[in-house]
Amino acid sequence: MFKVIKKEGRARRGEFCCAHGGTVQTPVFMNVGTQAAIKGGVDAFDLHDLGCQIELSNTYHLHLRPGDDVVRQMGGLHRFMNWDGPILTDSGGFQVFSLASLRKITEEGVTFASHLDGHRIFMGPEESMRIQSNLGSDIAMAFDECVENPAQYDYAKASCERTLRWLQRCKAEHDRLNALPDAVNPHQMLFGINQGATYEDLRIWHMQQIAKIDCDGFAIGGLAVGEPTEVMYRIIEAVEPHMPAHKPRYLMGVGTPSNIIEGVARGVDFFDCVMPARNARHGKLFTWQGAMNIKNAKYKLDDRPIDPECDCPVCRRFSRAYVRHLFAAEEILALRLAVMHNLYFYNKLAQRIRDSLDAGCFEDFRREYSEKLSRRI
Ligand code: GUN
Ligand code: ZN
Repeated sequence: MFKVIKKEGRARRGEFCCAHGGTVQTPVFMNVGTQAAIKGGVDAFDLHDLGCQIELSNTYHLHLRPGDDVVRQMGGLHRFMNWDGPILTDSGGFQVFSLASLRKITEEGVTFASHLDGHRIFMGPEESMRIQSNLGSDIAMAFDECVENPAQYDYAKASCERTLRWLQRCKAEHDRLNALPDAVNPHQMLFGINQGATYEDLRIWHMQQIAKIDCDGFAIGGLAVGEPTEVMYRIIEAVEPHMPAHKPRYLMGVGTPSNIIEGVARGVDFFDCVMPARNARHGKLFTWQGAMNIKNAKYKLDDRPIDPECDCPVCRRFSRAYVRHLFAAEEILALRLAVMHNLYFYNKLAQRIRDSLDAGCFEDFRREYSEKLSRRI
């Protein structure tokens, strides 16, 4: 299923086979479509033009609305949103902890109030697996608890022990659901998630335990949730040697262009982040020279594309002055064009990382861009 085809230091160039859409080239950036839609009015056809290889949706949101039973009756998420490439669904673990209120955690799972209308819902490992099975995604994520940083040691320890037991339950339920004759996607894979807050001993213990479970890949969760960047890098460095070398590794919810380059340098293969779409909606655009704010008055008469080095559908057609005007006039087209450019940039970043690994010059690429892409221009 996953093959590392080249290495440079800890960085890996790989290929990953999914039931839909053939082979994914890694390192890869996954484009976030939480509610089966990309923010900013970007649809599944646009995603192809933006160089997207994998789309990511959320168990929590789709369970609340329209309901995973609806998606199942509509033939699964691929048919529902008309995206024929690979889809990864996050388990709800993170969203229950970041969005829902009145949470109560027990060994069984989590009871919480919907962020839409407040009604009480229970979700545990089995429920999360059933919802993801109904959605028919290619990769299901294990149901986990993501604790905030900083976290108390004793709480983080109890929590990651429970997340381990939850993974064992996820695996059993996932196997059972895949074997049902009416499974939406009988080839659905399951990724386990490493937790343990910022404690290296907990992180390593937890990784060693979950590595014994036959998952199709492993994620590092619970990062970029309040800890300094250096701490995040230290945790990845501690955990990575304990992750099975022949399985894909996914750093959840990370991050800036620089975080992605540094994640690859530390052995990560998969990334996702809301940042490109969220920043775009505020006029913050990524370029190969650094980050810019297109709303700035200095772009009023600027006839150049957003990024002269970018060949995205937006930069091939429109000027900075025009995109700035769309923001000032509060046209929804402003959001669409800005999101398209930023997503193209992130997918291109992953592509350039892969190209540099293929050419054996990833370290040169890292040196040139890791710091530069975080600058403001
Ligand atoms: N997305 C970002 N971080 C996390 C995490 O720790 N767990 C899950 N399930 N999703 C995430
Ligand atoms: Zn562009």
